[in-house]
Amino acid sequence: MERQTKVQNLIQSRVSLAPMAGITDYVIRSLIRRYSPDVLLTTEMISSEFLAQTLNGRSGTEIFKKDDNHSPIAYQISGHKPQMMKKASEFLTQYADMIDINMGCPVNKVVKGQDGCALMRNPQLATELVKAVKDGTDKPVSVKFRLGYTFDEMNFVEFGVKMQEAGANFITIHGRTRSQMYAGNADWARISELKKEVDIPVFANGDIIDIDSAARCLELSHADGIAVGRGAIGDPTLLGRISHYLKTGEKLEKPNLEIRAEMLKKHLDDEIELRGESVAIKFMRKFYPYYLAGFQNAKTLRTKLVLEDDYNTIIKLLDDLKAIKI
Ligand SMILES: Cc1cc2nc3c(=O)[nH]c(=O)nc-3n(C[C@H](O)[C@H](O)[C@H](O)COP(=O)(O)O)c2cc1C
Repeated sequence: MERQTKVQNLIQSRVSLAPMAGITDYVIRSLIRRYSPDVLLTTEMISSEFLAQTLNGRSGTEIFKKDDNHSPIAYQISGHKPQMMKKASEFLTQYADMIDINMGCPVNKVVKGQDGCALMRNPQLATELVKAVKDGTDKPVSVKFRLGYTFDEMNFVEFGVKMQEAGANFITIHGRTRSQMYAGNADWARISELKKEVDIPVFANGDIIDIDSAARCLELSHADGIAVGRGAIGDPTLLGRISHYLKTGEKLEKPNLEIRAEMLKKHLDDEIELRGESVAIKFMRKFYPYYLAGFQNAKTLRTKLVLEDDYNTIIKLLDDLKAIKI
């Protein structure tokens, strides 16, 4: 009961950052927090097996890094061995306000190892994992899953009920099946079927890219809130603007290109501080298409940026964008 009350506090904004491996690192979480004071942040997925190795003295601890203002924040773990998941949960309790279990990742390597969305085919094991993770922490425990493994196995309602019975305090559901990967559209209306059958809060996820899609998703899914993934990349203000809209009805403008270029520079500088210049410059390449889209010659600029290794040249290319007014 106490954990259920805690969850309500963590999700008050009705908006969360969906976990994205290789994307939602310390830097992007900090950047989003600047513009979104109370949304629920989530880390990248942290493998419980990797964590066991780290705890045995291996490096890689920047994945846990957290500032005080990152709360409320969920740390997401993946795995399929209850004892290892319990250990991960014990360890992460020092950072996390909530521990989230990945039951939706569609990637081959992950599902072959029985992690991620493979757990939707093994509700018994998924139940054991929820119980084990709860044993390891006094924080609320959440699960994130999809509509099902394939279109013929859309078991999200029974699965969600089982996770609630196992003790899960919160659900995020991506409105696609594993077989869809990221193709087609997220089916927000189907999420309402789950919402009717569970008492714990449910956040809907998939294809929320602006305030209007967030509002439409809430209307169709009847969910308690929404989780935003790719839409937040390249616009760190989006989560804050959605939560502001849900509180006030006011639609704040998307930042223009000049402001996005400034945010991108800050993102790059902070990654350099975290990872060192040469690694950070390469790491940032995946972000350019998100920040720099929707203007003439955007593609040409992105091509130049992804081939560029020199920091000053990158900054000069971004500064040149000030001349373009969008
Ligand atoms: C690059 C990338 C990495 C992702 N990594 C994770 C992950 O680690 N854990 C997870 O539960 N989902 C992961 N997802 C799925 C997202 O959390 C989200 O469910 C999905 O992208 C749909 O939401 P969106 O349309 O708002 O992006 C990832 C998605 C992307 C694009």
